[in-house]
Amino acid sequence: VNRSSPLRGVASRGFVGRLLLAVIAVLVLGLLAVLALAWRDSLAPRDPSLPLSFHPDLVRRGAQLATLGDCIACHTARDGKSFAGGFPIRTQFGTIYGTNITPDAETGIGRWTESAFMRAMREGVDREGRHLYPAFPYNHFTRLTDEDIKALYGYFMTREPIRQEPPGNDLRFPFNFRPLIAGWNLLFLDRGAQQPTVSQSAEWNRGAYLVQGLAHCAACHTPRNVLGGPKSGADFAGGDIEGWHAPALNADSPARVAWTVDSLYRYLRNGYDAQHGVAAGPMAPVSLNLSEAPEQDVRAIAVYMSWLVGPAAAGGGKGVPAGSLDPDVAAQARQKLAQNTDHGVASGAAIYKGACASCHDPVGMQSLRRAAIDLSVSTALSAPNARNLIQVLHQGITPPEGERGPWMPPFAGALTARQVADLAQFLRASVGQPAWDDVEDLARKISEGKE
Ligand code: HEC
Ligand code: HEC
Ligand code: HEC
Repeated sequence: VNRSSPLRGVASRGFVGRLLLAVIAVLVLGLLAVLALAWRDSLAPRDPSLPLSFHPDLVRRGAQLATLGDCIACHTARDGKSFAGGFPIRTQFGTIYGTNITPDAETGIGRWTESAFMRAMREGVDREGRHLYPAFPYNHFTRLTDEDIKALYGYFMTREPIRQEPPGNDLRFPFNFRPLIAGWNLLFLDRGAQQPTVSQSAEWNRGAYLVQGLAHCAACHTPRNVLGGPKSGADFAGGDIEGWHAPALNADSPARVAWTVDSLYRYLRNGYDAQHGVAAGPMAPVSLNLSEAPEQDVRAIAVYMSWLVGPAAAGGGKGVPAGSLDPDVAAQARQKLAQNTDHGVASGAAIYKGACASCHDPVGMQSLRRAAIDLSVSTALSAPNARNLIQVLHQGITPPEGERGPWMPPFAGALTARQVADLAQFLRASVGQPAWDDVEDLARKISEGKE
């Protein structure tokens, strides 16, 4: 047998060639399928020179809804004009900029009809048929009723048009290829307005509607998977966002004192609850918006959230009922730890005594008593990671511009990453929790703006 028969070579080349062709055909078909799946019509523009008219009540309602939905946050550049776009949203795939949603005909949504706006809110597709990135929380806004979307349209179309082109997105390949978003939608977009749960009260349903839809609370409080979608089976299980940790708001709530409807209401409305502390970082603007929202809406959110967390008695959350955490016990624990010989704990105890106790530890210092929370009730110490403690230390606490409120100095520059780690170790031990991993590393990254 002649093993090097030229025929054999031709046959195998033919086979490889056919295989290659088949692979290319499959790839091309796959690509066509993606494009077909992703294809959306361009909707006819409206003539921007024609006036629109909306009932003032509708516009007023739209304004309230825009506040609850925090549209301004992602659609306003730092120091920029409201809703004119340009705010950078950093994601694991690159930076996406909020667009201009003022009614400017060239750079905003001036040519959008109500149905184009409705499609964007429900399906995440722009007027020209391009898929929008889910950094725009349309997977939540899809829960809105038609009437609410119409009111939002009325509000935005009556804003002052501002000509401003947002910067182009800066996304890594292949995420800069918009048709891929159709695949994301297939996996994670569950379209349609929120359906009421008949066994629950009207207030609960109102809360569910706002939390799941407009207020998109899960966008931060539900962890994300590698595709940036909500992790399945982990609704409200807590997520990391903008270098902070948005704590779990389900039965895994790490709050030291169990949440109740009243404490949730106070926290959300005032940005502060004496049994839990301040709404800082990315939660600060949320509570600021809720301070302006209709009171009964905030109450409804609190009712629904408290149901999500579940009552402490039934094992919902790990917190104990308010009043059953004895501040003296915590103070004694801290004093005992100060005698600890473990280097990290001892150094942390010394820093605490010198830099924190005057405000946070009024025991034995009645004259210096300040209105700062006893840290033993703070979720910052019982959270699964040190992000919020490090962030609060780094940035301090400042009241919203032009308002009075609790104030804590920033310690950025005053404490090294090692000292922050020691302090964290001491504070965790003082509430009977195991030390967090890698606090020093995280503190360094946060101080360098890399988290
Ligand atoms: C968490 C950030 C975030 C919030 C909150 C948010 N948006 Fe957006 N929105 C975006 C981003 C980012 C885009 C652009 C996405 C893209 O480029 O694919 C966008 C796009 C849009 C678009 C499409 C505009 C266009 O030019 O294509 C509309 C309409 C819109 N948003 C309306 C709203 C409304 C109304 C609200 C409040 C109810 C809101 N957004 C809240 C981030 C947000
Ligand atoms: C000048 C007074 C002051 C000093 C000093 C101070 N804090 Fe604060 N701190 C506050 C105030 C006020 C708040 C926000 C309101 C509140 O929680 O009572 C706060 C909030 C916090 C929070 C957030 C609590 C929460 O869950 O809301 C943490 C964590 C914290 N401080 C830790 C520290 C640590 C650690 C130190 C020492 C390095 C320190 N603080 C020093 C006044 C102070
Ligand atoms: C942009 C991200 C973001 C959104 C949207 C958001 N949160 Fe938060 N939330 C956070 C972060 C971060 C914290 C931690 C803040 C802190 O400790 O100061 C937090 C803290 C909280 C807490 C305190 C939890 C605890 O145990 O200490 C509650 C309650 C809460 N959020 C409720 C809500 C509700 C209700 C909504 C929707 C109306 C919402 N959040 C929307 C990021 C967000």
